[in-house]
Amino acid sequence: MITKDEIDEILRRYEKGDVTIGTLGSHSALNIFKGAKEEGFATICICRKSDEIVYQRFPLADDIILVEGFNELLDDDIQQRLRQKNTILVPHGSFNAYIGAGKIMDELRVPLFGNRELLRWETDREKQREWLQRAGLTLPKTFKDPKDIHGLVIVKFSGARGGKGYFLANSPQSFHEKAGDMIKRGHLRREELENTHLQEYIIGVNVCPSYFHSPLKNEVELLGIDRRYESTVDSIGRMPASEQLQIALNPTYTVIGNIPIILRESLLPEILRMGEKVVKTSKQIAPPGIIGPFCLETVITDALEIFTFEISARIVAGSNVGIGTSPYAYLNYGEGMYMGRRISREIKTATENNELEKVVY
Ligand SMILES: Nc1ncnc2c1ncn2[C@@H]1O[C@H](COP(=O)(O)OP(=O)(O)O)[C@@H](O)[C@H]1O
Ligand SMILES: [Mg+2]
Repeated sequence: MITKDEIDEILRRYEKGDVTIGTLGSHSALNIFKGAKEEGFATICICRKSDEIVYQRFPLADDIILVEGFNELLDDDIQQRLRQKNTILVPHGSFNAYIGAGKIMDELRVPLFGNRELLRWETDREKQREWLQRAGLTLPKTFKDPKDIHGLVIVKFSGARGGKGYFLANSPQSFHEKAGDMIKRGHLRREELENTHLQEYIIGVNVCPSYFHSPLKNEVELLGIDRRYESTVDSIGRMPASEQLQIALNPTYTVIGNIPIILRESLLPEILRMGEKVVKTSKQIAPPGIIGPFCLETVITDALEIFTFEISARIVAGSNVGIGTSPYAYLNYGEGMYMGRRISREIKTATENNELEKVVY
């Protein structure tokens, strides 16, 4: 594993007045690049040839490194090019999905905004649960074995797959039937059934608050809230129940985009406290805890109970709904603040105060 000392040594050689903000061209890259430009940084995009059109049509990256696959980020020559430009990488969901927490921690010798150690926690569902439970949040129940299923459960699989192939079941029998259907439809491989995560299905609405923990200000800010827009589950209400029954609808949860949410204000005290508790626990499990963005994925019921089923310890694509101005960020900052920019603002402040090592790992 790459040590913090090693990263600090790299930072010592950086030209602090000439930092470049870099990321993989995917997920929330436009959000991150726009924010970096607005804070006065140069930007660099590690981009797959197939995605280049995005960074041509939205020309926010000053420099583009074209690759066949994102794993090339680990190549020595690319890492060296990034260090030469004094690059700080901002990790997002595609870092975990395409490179993996282990390789990032062992092989990526470019400073990352955030706490590398937490990658290990957020990419493991069991560790996520432990973290959220220790923070005192309310979680859905889980079931160890499909044999134990009673009541409605959502069946999830490992790896960051954006909800693809997840399904509902309410008995061991329906589990096997629906799993078979998902395999037939090409959403799932049979081997993946070995490693399922069975979680009580909470009936309510999807609400995902995005927070920012500033180690410089020692404060947890709420920057925005979104809900996930998922195909096909979010389209069910557009079909009459009779048709749903006719086609034996077995929806999946593939995320397609995000929709901004404003919560009733009476929910904010708890939402704000949840963010603080998660940060406090993160300091215990992986000092110095969360640095920068994180997001809780929750379902809120009609009894106004908030169940948290997932945490991301980095920027989420749901924060893209705030590009330009996010309403909750507006309340604190006025116009023009959003997650991508908040990240660069923190890096800029750290650079000015000569405390970059507090936010970069
Ligand atoms: N316990 C739950 N109760 C109700 N809906 C859930 C629950 N867990 C997940 N979901 C739904 O399934 C989607 C995908 O689940 P999630 O755990 O976020 O998987 P991923 O790791 O692929 O993002 C969520 O966005 C939400 O719509
Ligand atoms: Mg999710």
